[in-house]
Amino acid sequence: MIFHFGSNLKMNQGPEEARSFVRKIRAWLEAMPDRGASVQLWAALSYTNLAAADGERGGSGLWIGAQNVHWEDAGAFTGEISPVQLNACGATFALVGHAERRALFDETDERVAAKLRACARHGLRAILCVGESRDAYGAGTGGAFVDRQLELAFAGYEAPHLLIVLYEPVWSIGDGGRAADPGYVDGALARIRSFLTRRFGDAGTTIPILYGGSVDAENAADYTALMHCNGLGVGRAAWRAEDFLNVLQSCLRGPRQVAAASQPTPAGP
Ligand code: PGA
Repeated sequence: MIFHFGSNLKMNQGPEEARSFVRKIRAWLEAMPDRGASVQLWAALSYTNLAAADGERGGSGLWIGAQNVHWEDAGAFTGEISPVQLNACGATFALVGHAERRALFDETDERVAAKLRACARHGLRAILCVGESRDAYGAGTGGAFVDRQLELAFAGYEAPHLLIVLYEPVWSIGDGGRAADPGYVDGALARIRSFLTRRFGDAGTTIPILYGGSVDAENAADYTALMHCNGLGVGRAAWRAEDFLNVLQSCLRGPRQVAAASQPTPAGP
């Protein structure tokens, strides 16, 4: 499966910075014409930067997307953006259900499901973010927590060919987050794969499943090497194009010696 690597830029950059970010990634892709066959790069930008980034990416194959999307196509929803509008700005995908949106902006499982269906209706790829809370992790019930998120997210969703799943345990994200142990992550990704295969049949075997949460140039290759890992989502360690490419190249170079797993596996109830 193609390795998917990208960054969530969160509430950073203006159009000029986004243009420059995309230009540098595009130059990297163009310098390695065969890369497109094995690596799919993506960047989740602020809405205000999508058109600028789309104008800059040319035929490089870089996906640009939004960090959120509304579930209706149009109407009186002040401050919201629909999948129709995202398509019109050149977006390739939308992040749906990021942990920060779930925690800070009332992103319920029902809304996540409605957003996924809206993306599917308009042929927009969705990067669905899931991950257990700190409490569930501490209680050893992370696996069941994520299963439930997936179950609810896929209500009425039948577009597995447009889906990517990004597993980001809440306790591993952002400042103060702690990168999850690779052994733990592999167990969680394997469990997500079984869920997807049960839910979508054969199509579930080809949905890319990525890890995210405090990924950086030091640890990225440890996750890339995991049997069940199809790619990475990086936040603050890849907000500058130079850093983005540095983390990417560290994945392509291969893993360091991985210490024995010290965190519990997510196979709990
Ligand atoms: P982080 O963010 O890499 O800064 O932890 C990841 C994310 O929120 O997608």
